[in-house]
Amino acid sequence: MSNVITEQLTPAGQKIEHDSFAIVDNEAGQHNYPDDQWQIVRRMIHASADFEFNGLTHFHADAVSAGLNALSQGRPIIADVEMICVGLSKPRLSHFGVETHHFISDEDVIAQAKAENSTRAVQAMRKAHRLGLLDNGIIAVGNAPTALLEVIRLIQDEGLRPALIIGMPVGFVSAAESKAAVSTLRETPWIITDGRKGGSTLVVSTLHALLALTETEQRKYTSVQITAAEREGVYKTIYSRRDTRSEFLPDPISDQVLQRILHAAHHAPSVGFMQPWDFIIVKDHSIRQQIKEAFKSAHSEAAEMFDEEQRGEQYRSFKLEGIMEAPLGITITCDRRRTGKTVIGRTANKEMDLYSSVCAIQNLWLAARAENLGVGWVSIMHHKALKEILGIPKPIVPVAYLCIGHVSHFHEKPELEKAGWLPRLPIEELIHHDGW
Ligand SMILES: Cc1cc2nc3c(=O)[nH]c(=O)nc-3n(C[C@H](O)[C@H](O)[C@H](O)COP(=O)(O)O)c2cc1C
Repeated sequence: MSNVITEQLTPAGQKIEHDSFAIVDNEAGQHNYPDDQWQIVRRMIHASADFEFNGLTHFHADAVSAGLNALSQGRPIIADVEMICVGLSKPRLSHFGVETHHFISDEDVIAQAKAENSTRAVQAMRKAHRLGLLDNGIIAVGNAPTALLEVIRLIQDEGLRPALIIGMPVGFVSAAESKAAVSTLRETPWIITDGRKGGSTLVVSTLHALLALTETEQRKYTSVQITAAEREGVYKTIYSRRDTRSEFLPDPISDQVLQRILHAAHHAPSVGFMQPWDFIIVKDHSIRQQIKEAFKSAHSEAAEMFDEEQRGEQYRSFKLEGIMEAPLGITITCDRRRTGKTVIGRTANKEMDLYSSVCAIQNLWLAARAENLGVGWVSIMHHKALKEILGIPKPIVPVAYLCIGHVSHFHEKPELEKAGWLPRLPIEELIHHDGW
């Protein structure tokens, strides 16, 4: 299955591009890049016929996934010069809803640069930041080292968080130094070229390669036919999903995995497409301790409800949460007013928005299982207490607190089934035909 949007438009053009890539592959020989990074480096070599980019190009570990994420969400590209914006394919950008911006020739930018005796590139980045474009955007620099240095300052002094920096200024004054400085950033993903080499063409080819990777990724999940192996994977995930309480390991969950799981949750069905959910990630030890206290208090109330006839002793023997053992918790909420009073599908039955948040939870649970992570739903807790601890605004309804983390193992059966609390009901008793 090949790309449609990010390929050459004619078979003849496609052949030339494929032949060119094959020549680059062949002449480059051995390289140290993983496949996705190589697709970027190969396109840079394709655009410049300079094989030194095999080796001169460096990637932050999260750069490719951050770039794909940003492009698939239609985040803007902010370039230091107009040439980058002109060089990018308009149909490819518009397919992903990505807009480009450059401010270097704006009158106010030029005036400010003169007044402060700084460069237009510095003022252009400041203007982009004032307009709120740089946070979560892709910053693309092919010419101006001062733009890169200003971006680093904004990150360090003003808490700027771009999705990705493509830092490839070409030149002799500060070009190499500015790129070396970018490569020291830990939290912000970047792609750079070492030394003097770089330029707008390289930035454009990097972005075109990222757009192609984004299309490949999307096509992987949106093609209509599910293969037999994929179907097996889905059923295996469903049948082997368990509620996890005691098996959590303290190992952290990588940001990339967490993002994949949250994105899966965000692609759940929702009434009138209102997407009423928010996700609160809870890592802080002391906050989790407060949540644990809320559980303990509700749990002792619950223990009173299961008297001896109701198997109180057995109830008290169950471990029913892993709040402190799991490395993080996620609260999923429902904003019942998110898209206004009248919502398609929520007109006769008002609770449909709550069900939608539950759909997101189930997506999250299954995606986590597919990532070999355990999830435990902790419902023994008054939501009023949870709202207070997490500062959830009054109209927002908490729907679940989930513990999530790596696990030592998954139980084969539900623990409550194994402990003899309840059996799995025969499905035949639950399926009715043409009425109750
Ligand atoms: C809405 C909901 C609330 C739950 N609350 C809790 C809970 O507070 N504590 C707990 O240990 N398990 C909780 N569970 C997990 C169930 O006990 C579990 O899903 C069930 O026993 C079947 O086991 P399995 O998920 O491992 O297949 C909850 C599950 C759901 C769907």
